[in-house]
Amino acid sequence: MSFFCNCSNLSTSFFLLILPIFFTFIHATIFEIRNSCPYTVWAAAVPGGGRQLDQDQTWNLSVISNTNQVRIWGRTKCSFDKAGKGNCESGGCGGLLDCQDYGSPPNTMAEYSLNQFNKADFFDISVVHGFNIPMEFSPTSDGCRRGANCTGDINGSCPNELRDPGGCNNPCTVFNNTQYCCYSGSCGPTTYSKFFKDRCPDAYSYPLDDSAVSFTCPAGTNYRVVFCP
Ligand SMILES: *[C@@H]1O[C@H](CO)[C@@H](O)[C@H](O)[C@H]1NC(C)=O
Ligand SMILES: *[C@@H]1O[C@H](CO)[C@@H](O)[C@H](O)[C@H]1NC(C)=O
Ligand SMILES: *[C@@H]1O[C@H](CO)[C@@H](O)[C@H](O)[C@H]1NC(C)=O
Ligand SMILES: *[C@@H]1O[C@H](CO)[C@@H](O)[C@H](O)[C@H]1NC(C)=O
Repeated sequence: MSFFCNCSNLSTSFFLLILPIFFTFIHATIFEIRNSCPYTVWAAAVPGGGRQLDQDQTWNLSVISNTNQVRIWGRTKCSFDKAGKGNCESGGCGGLLDCQDYGSPPNTMAEYSLNQFNKADFFDISVVHGFNIPMEFSPTSDGCRRGANCTGDINGSCPNELRDPGGCNNPCTVFNNTQYCCYSGSCGPTTYSKFFKDRCPDAYSYPLDDSAVSFTCPAGTNYRVVFCP
């Protein structure tokens, strides 16, 4: 008799044991991605995919709360067929509506890593890959307030050599040398990175930019990303 369990008791206690673990692991962070631009933006997230957002539309993206190195950005002037294949003027990810890969520059980027050291989230805006759409990235939960904005007029005053049909490109993509791309593993600010920094002081402006702020909130915080805040 002792070889046979009282199975209904066992499964109940197993369930009670598993339940809290289950809830710990499936906790998700919500990113409310909003398009306040007067034009359509095709929002993209890796992981997450992509979605067309007309003016004032919102996409609530749910991301597992221990995800590392995630990016959210916007694409402009896209056209996709019914199968979700097509292209964009800026930010496109290999011709797919549902992005699996990071987008092509120029693209203003929201970057984050969730639930890292000391159970904290780290997030920032980066123009290291250039600028296509003004962006705000901020927490929406109580207890964490500070967020980042990149709303300066980068496109309108973009140096001629960085101008791109989709925005203002980054000098690494345009010139492909170690000064701008940091291939050697060390590099400093340049005239171009200062141009970006002056207009978006919250944002990372070159690959090893340490003047930028990486914002932090307790794990479990939810966020808002707004195009044209
Ligand atoms: C997104 O989430 C916010 C906050 O929870 C909610 O107010 C809003 O209605 C949601 N929007 C959509 C499109 O689901
Ligand atoms: C970003 O700028 C917009 C428009 O000026 C403002 O409403 C918003 O509060 C700012 N957000 C942050 C996080 O600074
Ligand atoms: C960027 O600026 C150029 C030149 O002023 C303009 O033609 C273009 O429409 C602008 N693009 C965006 C996305 O605002
Ligand atoms: C950039 O330059 C390096 C050599 O310095 C070369 O290996 C690489 O293919 C170039 N990349 C592009 C995208 O042209």
